[in-house]
Amino acid sequence: MPHSDAVFPRAGTTFELGAWSAAHLQNVEQALARWVTAEAPDGVDHGAPAALVEAMRYAVLDGGKRLRPLLVMAAWEATAPAEPGQAGGNPESALRAACAVELIHAYSLVHDDMPCMDNDILRRGKPTVHVQFGEASALLAGDALQALAFELLTPEDDRMCARRQARLCRLLARAAGSSGMAGGQAIDLASVGMSLTEHQLRAMHRLKTGALLQASVMMGAACGEADEVAGAALSVYGAAIGLAFQVVDDILDVTADSATLGKTAGKDADQDKPTYVSILGMEASVAYAQELLKQALAALTQSGLPNTGALQGLARMVVNRSC
Ligand code: IPE
Ligand code: IPE
Ligand code: MG
Ligand code: MG
Ligand code: MG
Repeated sequence: MPHSDAVFPRAGTTFELGAWSAAHLQNVEQALARWVTAEAPDGVDHGAPAALVEAMRYAVLDGGKRLRPLLVMAAWEATAPAEPGQAGGNPESALRAACAVELIHAYSLVHDDMPCMDNDILRRGKPTVHVQFGEASALLAGDALQALAFELLTPEDDRMCARRQARLCRLLARAAGSSGMAGGQAIDLASVGMSLTEHQLRAMHRLKTGALLQASVMMGAACGEADEVAGAALSVYGAAIGLAFQVVDDILDVTADSATLGKTAGKDADQDKPTYVSILGMEASVAYAQELLKQALAALTQSGLPNTGALQGLARMVVNRSC
C-alpha cells in the first residue's frame, strides 16, 4: 500500500495543517486513481465498460478540496494509538474509509449538477459530468461511484475485521441515504421558492451536507479507538462543522466568483433556493458560522483526545475558507 510506511507530521502545539494535509492528500489521490479504474478494487477486470469508468474518473480525480477524506484521516489520527512521529492504528481501513466517503461525495455532486436538480454546467473548474458525457452517463457514473464506495469498505481478505467493515458501511449508508444526503437533497428540491424557518433550514443543511461530513469524522474514529466520551464529542464536532460547511457554502455562493469556486456562483439566488444568506442575512450567517466553529473546537476540548491539531485546523478551514 502507498501509505503503510508513511510518516506524517503529528498534531501538537506546532501543528501545521498545510504539511499535514499534503502528506495525506498524496495518499488519497493515489488511492483514488488506483481504485477508480476498470479493474475492481480486488485488481481483477470484471468487464466494466471503459466509457463508464472514464466518466467516473472524470468525476472523482483532479479536483476538489478533499475535505471529507482529510476529516477521516484527522479523526483516525486523533483516536489511533500511535508511536510518536508516526501515524498508527489501522491505516488501510482509514484510507479505504477516506476514499469511500469521497466517492459518495463525488457521486452526490454529479447528481446535484444534473438538469433535474441544480442544472449546473461547471464543477471543480471543468464542465459537469452530464455536460461532458451526457445525462445517462452522469446518472450511471454516480450510481457506480456509490456502489464502489461500499465495495472499498468490504475487502475480502483480512485487512479489515468484519465488525469494522459493518460499522463503516452503516455510518456511510446512513449519511448518504434518505436520513442523510439524499433526504436533504429531496428537501432542498422541494423547498425552491419557499421561505423556510431557521429550524427547517438547519434541518435541511444537516442532512444534505452535514451528515456526510459528520460521518467522515465518525468513520475516522471507527478506524481508531475512541472511547464513549471521545466518540460523543467527535460526533458533536462533526455535526458543528458539517452544518458550518453548508452555511459557508451558502455565503460563498454570494460573495465568491465562479473562477474561485470552480462552480457557478450566484446559483442559489438565481434558482430561488432558501439559504442561510437568504433567510438570516449575510452578517448573521457569518456570525453563525463562527459560532459553530467555537462549538466544534469546544467539543474537541471535551473529547479529552490529545492529538486534535488536524481536526482543529480543518474546522478553521471549513469556516474561514474562500472557496
Ligand atoms: C460542495 O462540496 C457541495 C456541498 C456539499 C456544499 P465541496 O465544497 O466540498 O466540493 P469539492 O469536493 O471541494 O469540490
Ligand atoms: C449540494 O448543495 C449538497 C450535495 C449534497 C451535493 P449545493 O447544491 O449547494 O452544492 P453546490 O453549491 O452545487 O456545490
Ligand atoms: Mg443542490
Ligand atoms: Mg448545487
Ligand atoms: Mg451551494
